[in-house]
Amino acid sequence: MNFNLEGRSVIITGITDSSSLALVIAKECKQLGAKLICTGLGKTEFHQNLSEAGLSFLERTYSDFTETVKRELGDDVITYPLDVTIQKNIDSFAEFLLNQGLQIHSVLHSIAMDKTIRQGKVKPIMTVSREEFMDAMNVSAFSLLALIQSFYQRNLLVQGGSIVALSYLGAERVVSHPYKNIGVAKSALERLVKEMAMELGKEKQIQVNAIRFSPYRASKAGSAIEGLEQAEKSCDTLAPLGNASAKDLAEEVAYLFRPGNRITGEIRHVDGGYHIRG
Ligand SMILES: NC(=O)c1ccc[n+]([C@@H]2O[C@H](COP(=O)([O-])OP(=O)(O)OC[C@H]3O[C@@H](n4cnc5c(N)ncnc54)[C@H](O)[C@@H]3O)[C@@H](O)[C@H]2O)c1
Repeated sequence: MNFNLEGRSVIITGITDSSSLALVIAKECKQLGAKLICTGLGKTEFHQNLSEAGLSFLERTYSDFTETVKRELGDDVITYPLDVTIQKNIDSFAEFLLNQGLQIHSVLHSIAMDKTIRQGKVKPIMTVSREEFMDAMNVSAFSLLALIQSFYQRNLLVQGGSIVALSYLGAERVVSHPYKNIGVAKSALERLVKEMAMELGKEKQIQVNAIRFSPYRASKAGSAIEGLEQAEKSCDTLAPLGNASAKDLAEEVAYLFRPGNRITGEIRHVDGGYHIRG
């Protein structure tokens, strides 16, 4: 099968630096001819009362993001600062797309955050506070809905478009390393994928899918998770095909973004088959 993404506008969220899964996916889409719009966490006019540490974190994060995009993807890629916890920031991004006259064919959701994962430790679920629970849900699950709602309200999503969110087997199972609070948020993300697939498919033939990827400790999010190094090794041994690579993931996302795709509401596994193991 031969396909390309020529003439298609693809939104890529979740690039932090060159270790981000979203960057490998962006490269694949670009190579297939897509026009890229990349968002990165950064300071915006909507951030109020930031501490000095908070401000310097956001500034550093955004400059790493823009440098990475420029270096790895080129000058022609549109970049935009986006903190998905701020609705006004999401809406301003959607307005920006509208003003640029852009119509969106595909969206990659590659965003996760859980404050109960700190300095290589994951808090037991029995100690997770209401705020920590809501924060992880907000950033890692609700953000998918909030983003797509904002695009939908402005009629930015084309008929037959495609949305993909990144997930993990820990959404369903208690995995071998602690995943806990973020696992609950990933469950919500996957359930949202199905509800959105139903409504957007019926109305606009838009596909919404999630992909559960192998443990990957090279990224910032991956390296923060307790025991992921060991999990990466054991999954590699136990999976029929060994762990999937970031490139495998990118190819699967691009496949789901292809014109004429009729797959939706799926929670796919790109994990070398690890998910079949008992
Ligand atoms: N690393 C793994 O083992 C693994 C495995 C399966 C799935 N995933 C998923 O893949 C996705 C990408 O993770 P990654 O491993 O590439 O790590 P990463 O750290 O490169 O990506 C996580 C991204 O979330 C962004 N983010 C966090 N809070 C945000 C906010 N408030 N607003 C906007 N963006 C925010 C970060 O800036 C970062 O770009 C995540 O959804 C993650 O759960 C990762």
